[in-house]
Amino acid sequence: MTIDADSAARVAARRQQYHEADVVVVGAGIFGCAVAYALANQGRSVLLLERWMHEPDRIVGELLQPGGVAALEKIGLGHCIEGIDAIPCYGYHVLYHKDDAVLEYPATDPVTGRVKAVVRRNMDAKSYVAAKAQNGSTNGSAKKGAYDNGQKQSKRAEGRAFHHGRFIVKLRQACQAHENITVVETDVQATIHGENSPEILGVESRTTLQNGEKKLDFFFGQLTIIADGYASRFRKQVLGPTKVPVVRSKFYALELIDCPFQPYGFGHVVIGAAPGPVLLYQIGTHETRALIDVPDREPAASPANGGVRGYIEKVVIPTLPLEVQPSFRAALAAMGEKQIPKSMPNSWLPPTKQTQHPGVLLLGDAMNMRHPLTGGGMTVAFNDVVLLSELLAPEKVPDLADSEKVAEAMKVFHWRRKAWTSIINVLAQALYSLFAAQNDRQLVALQKGCFEYFRRGHTDEPLGMMSGMLQEPLTLARHFFTVAFVGIWINAVEVCNGGSLLGLLKAPLALIDAVLILWRACVVFLPVMWKELQ
Ligand SMILES: Cc1cc2nc3c(=O)[nH]c(=O)nc-3n(C[C@H](O)[C@H](O)[C@H](O)COP(=O)(O)OP(=O)(O)OC[C@H]3O[C@@H](n4cnc5c(N)ncnc54)[C@H](O)[C@@H]3O)c2cc1C
Ligand SMILES: *[C@@H]1O[C@H](CO)[C@@H](O)[C@H](O)[C@H]1NC(C)=O
Ligand SMILES: *[C@@H]1O[C@H](CO)[C@@H](O)[C@H](O)[C@H]1NC(C)=O
Ligand SMILES: *[C@@H]1O[C@H](CO)[C@@H](O)[C@H](O)[C@H]1NC(C)=O
Repeated sequence: MTIDADSAARVAARRQQYHEADVVVVGAGIFGCAVAYALANQGRSVLLLERWMHEPDRIVGELLQPGGVAALEKIGLGHCIEGIDAIPCYGYHVLYHKDDAVLEYPATDPVTGRVKAVVRRNMDAKSYVAAKAQNGSTNGSAKKGAYDNGQKQSKRAEGRAFHHGRFIVKLRQACQAHENITVVETDVQATIHGENSPEILGVESRTTLQNGEKKLDFFFGQLTIIADGYASRFRKQVLGPTKVPVVRSKFYALELIDCPFQPYGFGHVVIGAAPGPVLLYQIGTHETRALIDVPDREPAASPANGGVRGYIEKVVIPTLPLEVQPSFRAALAAMGEKQIPKSMPNSWLPPTKQTQHPGVLLLGDAMNMRHPLTGGGMTVAFNDVVLLSELLAPEKVPDLADSEKVAEAMKVFHWRRKAWTSIINVLAQALYSLFAAQNDRQLVALQKGCFEYFRRGHTDEPLGMMSGMLQEPLTLARHFFTVAFVGIWINAVEVCNGGSLLGLLKAPLALIDAVLILWRACVVFLPVMWKELQ
């Protein structure tokens, strides 16, 4: 045995026998696995604690944006999206009433690394598929492999869609195989304080033994990182009692089997027809995920109207493209008469600076959430891990028990992460407000403006921001307000009947509308931006 291997073995024994490590990570989910792996790669000894080690069956975290794929690769976990029957994602296909537009992720400039923004009208799906076929590129309909064969469709960026559980299993296996990580299946109950100091020394947990008995366990680390997800048990304690997620809607989920829908390799977003948006994306060779947003207190989904199931059957399905309707009905039928589809709350929780509590950090969804409409959660998490491991690197913070140094790093972390998180979070919230608009004249005007703006091809930068590739908050504000002006313009043309003499007499009305629409845009955008920038 070399000296290094010898000491590594001793450090591992300390983790296994005495439950002592440099870092205790609570939750082996998206954030927990990634942060454990990144810190272990820097030579830290890590205990990773997870309540349920079996493959999770969840409806979250199924589409990883290109910016998330890039961050995952930086952490050294890029292989975790291979071998799980993942489907490439080239961008979005937006369906708005009778219109639709295919929006590809942008390409990046090979020299500067910046997103290349080119304005060119975006095609509808039919023309897009035809053009692709003519260009002689892969016809990927219902077939995967366009990526697996290594022949990418274009030089534009790509994301990946998959079964969440399979991805999590891969991440956990990578952690279990790491010499500097010990993974323990245990349910964490509380933090452990020092006797005379507020310093957090580790956690207390309950482990289920093989005979079914539960035993109390203790784990100690110089630093405890809690990433226990959206329903965090520790949020109140670490962030304070006022940090409560805002929930305006829920996503109800169906798994569609062999649901053909062109173009292949795109996330489909259906807006404008039902009260909430509907998302469709293929997550495996045969499976397509459907997420149906149901706003809180939506009257059409009230028990009197047949509840959520009745709402999906009577209100949502008829608004969807004819090709996919049978798959929706089949998925509902397969569930049994009375069963309601699985659901998750769509939360918004602005970030909190963490410099108050020595010895503990709360990160991932526990600390910061946005509406999952744009599929940004994992991209935020992986980029956060890249930044955090940079700031806590042993060269900068040799001793993680040095809470002053850690607090300093966390201050930098709080501000630097905004370059991508504020964009992803604000876009998710603002687009949700626009896409869920129904009876609000100004919001509907903004919705029209947004679709028209996308269709006219101003999508490279917005998609670059949404996918975590472009990290410039001011660019976001510029695009958002341009959308507002497009909405105002379309509305003015409508109000004035396209400029006829009689129509022109209504110009003052259009002007009032303009002010109201702009005001509405500010109300949608600025408070969220303000909260995110604090
Ligand atoms: C409906 C919906 C769809 C979404 N779709 C996408 C998407 O397509 N793309 C995307 O990027 N993001 C998506 N997200 C967001 C994404 O799922 C989250 O941002 C991401 O999972 C957060 O990672 P996390 O590690 O913080 O939490 P999680 O991934 O939830 O992990 C938390 C882990 O902690 C464990 N745990 C909890 N409590 C304890 C305890 N007491 N002791 C031990 N272990 C514990 C849990 O078992 C779990 O393994 C979606 C969210 C929702 C609600
Ligand atoms: C594990 O930690 C040691 C230092 O304790 C380090 O030398 C080694 O490179 C780490 N292993 C891996 C796989 O990163
Ligand atoms: C692609 O292939 C499918 C069958 O594999 C076919 O139905 C479809 O028409 C093809 N599309 C184009 C544009 O060639
Ligand atoms: C087809 O190829 C041309 C030239 O390479 C390219 O400009 C165009 O964007 C391609 N069309 C599609 C739909 O990919």
